[in-house]
Amino acid sequence: MTINYDRNAKIYDARHGEEIAPHIARNVMELAGLEAGGSQLDLASGTGRGCLAFARQGMTVTASDVSAEMLATLMLKASGLELSTHVIKAGDLPFEDDSFDAVSMSRALYLIADWRRVIGEAVRVVKPGGVFIHEWGSGSETDVYGRIRGRLRDLLLRAGVKQIFHPGARTETQVEAEIFARGFKSVGAVETGPGLSTTPRKFIEKIVNRECSYLWDVSDEIAASAMEKVWIYTCEEFGDLDQEIFMPENSWWRVYRLPKSRA
Ligand SMILES: C[S@@+](CC[C@H](N)C(=O)[O-])C[C@H]1O[C@@H](n2cnc3c(N)ncnc32)[C@H](O)[C@@H]1O
Repeated sequence: MTINYDRNAKIYDARHGEEIAPHIARNVMELAGLEAGGSQLDLASGTGRGCLAFARQGMTVTASDVSAEMLATLMLKASGLELSTHVIKAGDLPFEDDSFDAVSMSRALYLIADWRRVIGEAVRVVKPGGVFIHEWGSGSETDVYGRIRGRLRDLLLRAGVKQIFHPGARTETQVEAEIFARGFKSVGAVETGPGLSTTPRKFIEKIVNRECSYLWDVSDEIAASAMEKVWIYTCEEFGDLDQEIFMPENSWWRVYRLPKSRA
C-alpha cells in the first residue's frame, strides 16, 4: 500500500507546510559539510517544506514524491531555484549508484511499509563519504498526540482493519538502528523545537474529517465507533481538550555519513 498525498496537496501547506527556517537549513548544511552547488536528492518531498529551504541555500535539489499533486504545489514555490521534480517511489529510485552528495527525507518513513528498502536505496545513490539527512517528525509514543494516535491504532487493529495507518517505521530509534546497520555513522543533529501548535480537540477533528491519513482506508462504521472511544479516552486521560499541545513536541534534523570507501 502506498500513501499518496494527492488529496492533501491543496491544504497541506496551510496546515503543515511552513518551510523550515533558513538558519536550520544552513546549520544542517554546515554540520553535514555541504556547500552551495552540492547535489541533494530529497525523498517524499511533498510540497517542499524541507527541500526548498536547502535549495534556497544553493543546493541543487532533486525533489521526489509519489504524489504528482504535492510536487505541483512545490513547483509553484520553486521559481529561480536549482530544483527538479520526479514522481517516483522512494524505495525504487531510477538513479545510478553514487549519484548525490546528500540524500534527505523528512516526515515520511512512518508512512512507508518498505521503509528499510528506502534506506537501502539512500545508501546506494549517495556518494561514498556522502550524507543522509533525516527528520523523523512523528513525535514519540509519549507525546499527547502520540498517545491519542496510539489508542486509535489499537482500536483499529482490534476492529480487524488490515490497511492500518502509518504502516512504516514505528519509532525514530528503529530508523536509526537501520541507518547504522547500513553503515552510516552519526554526525550530529540540529534541534528545531516544537512543531505545530494545536489542541486535543482540533487533533481529533483533523482525524475525523480525514485531513490526517489515519482513517483514509477505514469504513465509516468502524471509524465512527473507534473515534467515539478515542474521544472518551482523551477526555478521561487529558481532561482539558483545549489545552495547547504540539505536533511533535520536539524535532531534530539528524545527519549521518557514509564511510569514504564502501565495505
Ligand atoms: C507527511 S508528507 C511529508 C512531506 C515533506 N517531506 C515534509 O516534510 O513536509 C509525506 C509525503 O510522503 C509521500 N509518500 C508516501 N509514500 C511514499 C513513497 N513510497 N515514496 C515516495 N513518497 C511517498 C506522500 O505523497 C507525501 O507527500
